[in-house]
This record gives sequence, structure tokens and C-alpha cells, in this order.
Amino acid sequence: MSSKKRVLTGITTTGTPHLGNYVGAIKPAIAASRDGSTESFYFLADYHALVKCEDPERVQRSTLEIAATWLALGLDTGRAVFYRQSDVPEIPELTWLLSCVTAKGLMNRAHAYKAAVDDNQLAGADPDYGITMGLFSYPVLMAADILMFNAERVPVGKDQVQHLEMARDIAQRFNHRYGEHFVLPEAVVDEHVATLPGTDGRKMSKSYDNTVSLWLPEKQLRKAIMKIKTNSQEPGEPKDPDGAAVYAVYAAFATPDQRRSMRQAFADGIAWGEVKQQLFEMINAELGAARERYLALMADTDKVEHELARGAERARAISRPFIERLRAAVGIRPLA
Ligand code: TRP
Repeated sequence: MSSKKRVLTGITTTGTPHLGNYVGAIKPAIAASRDGSTESFYFLADYHALVKCEDPERVQRSTLEIAATWLALGLDTGRAVFYRQSDVPEIPELTWLLSCVTAKGLMNRAHAYKAAVDDNQLAGADPDYGITMGLFSYPVLMAADILMFNAERVPVGKDQVQHLEMARDIAQRFNHRYGEHFVLPEAVVDEHVATLPGTDGRKMSKSYDNTVSLWLPEKQLRKAIMKIKTNSQEPGEPKDPDGAAVYAVYAAFATPDQRRSMRQAFADGIAWGEVKQQLFEMINAELGAARERYLALMADTDKVEHELARGAERARAISRPFIERLRAAVGIRPLA
């Protein structure tokens, strides 16, 4: 293995990218992939999407949108390995090998599964109501994603930290039984990355229905920003930036200098409408050129497919020989 640190993360293909995804995940990931001391693996987790979404059109559409987004924003696919999970059949194969060393009791403790059981109990339903094996064994698939490439660092949100602990646990069990095949991965939770507030002031999240789509046309983007909730303070009244969602969004995009002068403007009583106008101009300037590239890619699915196929080839150059070793290790090997 090379001496570069392997960084890997997956994006579940169920939604349309929004500003929160951009600030919290995509932008830092693209920046990180330019760091010469790391080797980045970024992939579209379409098998994971099936756990949450039974709408085929939506899974397909989201896969295209997310792929086009990363490419439009300048992910260098000559450096980073950018692929679609389902193009790497060694991943589901590894999932089974790992399932066979994974304690059911470990999966019983997964937060997402437990929350679903709790909801059922609260509703007086059967505890297993609506719970699929996909939901239950989701962490094993995620462990396979990570262990397949022996990733050392896995940037994720806080909600995914438990899954990383499970991946380590599963890797350890496999290593213990079959030899040292897997590196133990570590979650990287970046505390500095801003969680962006949504239009209602709560964390921007699809589940709160408060997101601003990343690729809105200029006019609609402006309109969405104008809708961000503020208080009723008048122009001229000094305002507190730290309690204001518009400021938090501004800060996530601004340079330190711009932040300083905006804080001064708040103290001087800038009108809410003016803050929003400046915020719109800033975001529009940052995303305008990429928006053009995004639209071009959305109209050229062959190009996107081509990029993903190339990524899958690079991924499989690693996964194919590795799964052979793993199969041999568990006793699935030629008879002679
Ligand atoms: N479960 C992750 C999420 O919902 C997505 C994901 C799938 C992932 N496989 C992964 C993240 C492997 C990191 C590593 O956000």
C-alpha cells in the first residue's frame, strides 16, 4: 500500500444537494482531495439509498444530480477516486463476508434501528413493523464500503460516528479470525465546519423541509434567501449577528475579512433586507460558474456515466484483488 493516507466517504443518493450539503460536506471534501498527502475515495452510496427510498426514479435522479454536483464543483477525478457503489460488486460480496462475523447484538444497538423500534413501541405497533433487513444491516454495508479500500480516515457527520465504531468492531473480529486484512478506520468529525441553518433557523436538513437547493436559478435563489427567518428589528437598530440565521449562513461563505465587516454592519444597524441581498450576491458569485457546468452535465449524462465508469475501474483495480485474498482467507478458494 502507498504511504498516502486514505480518506473515504459516501453520499447516499436519495436527495437533491442543498446549501447545507455544500458547506458541510462537498466543499470541504473537494478541498481535502487536493491535499497531496491523502488519497480520496468518494462514492455515491446508491445501495444505501434503497434502505430509505423505494422510488426508482428518485434514486436514479439523485445519483445523477449528486454526481453532476461534485463534478461541476471541480472535483478532480484524476486525483480522487469517484465512483458509484453499485459499480463495485466486490462491496456487496464483502458485505456478506462481514455479515458472517458480525454479532446480531451489535446491530441491535444501532441508533437508527433502535429509533425505529422505539417509534413502533410508542405507536403500539409490533416492534419490527416496517423494519427491513436493509435497515437492520445497514452498518455492515457501510463497514464493507470502508474496509474494501482500507480507508484510514472517514469524514462523517456526528450521526455516523456509531457506524464507524461498528466498522472497527467488525474489522477486528474478521482480523482476529482470519488474519490482519483490515485497517481499523477512524471517523473524522470536523467541528469547524459550520452546520448551516435552514430558512426556519433550525439546522438545514431535508427532514425539516427548510433547505435551499444548491442549484436554484438566480432569481429563485434570491427569493429563497429573502425568506430566511429574521426578527422584527428595524433598519438602524443595532442587531446581534450571533442569534441571526442569515449571519450564520453569511459566515459559512464569507472570508474572515468579510465576516468582520458584516459584524460591524450589524452593530451599525444594517437592514435585514440588505444583509440578505449581500448574502445572495456572495452565494451567487461563488456558485454561478459552477451552476453553468452543472446544467451542462445534467444534459450530458454520457459524460457523467463516463466519469463514474472510470472511477469504478480505478476502484475495482483495488477491490478485485483484495476480495480474492479475502475469499481465500475464509476458505472460498480453488480446490487444488
Ligand atoms: N451512511 C452515510 C450517511 O448516511 C453514507 C455512507 C454510506 C457512508 N457508506 C459510507 C459514509 C461509508 C462514510 C463511509 O451519511
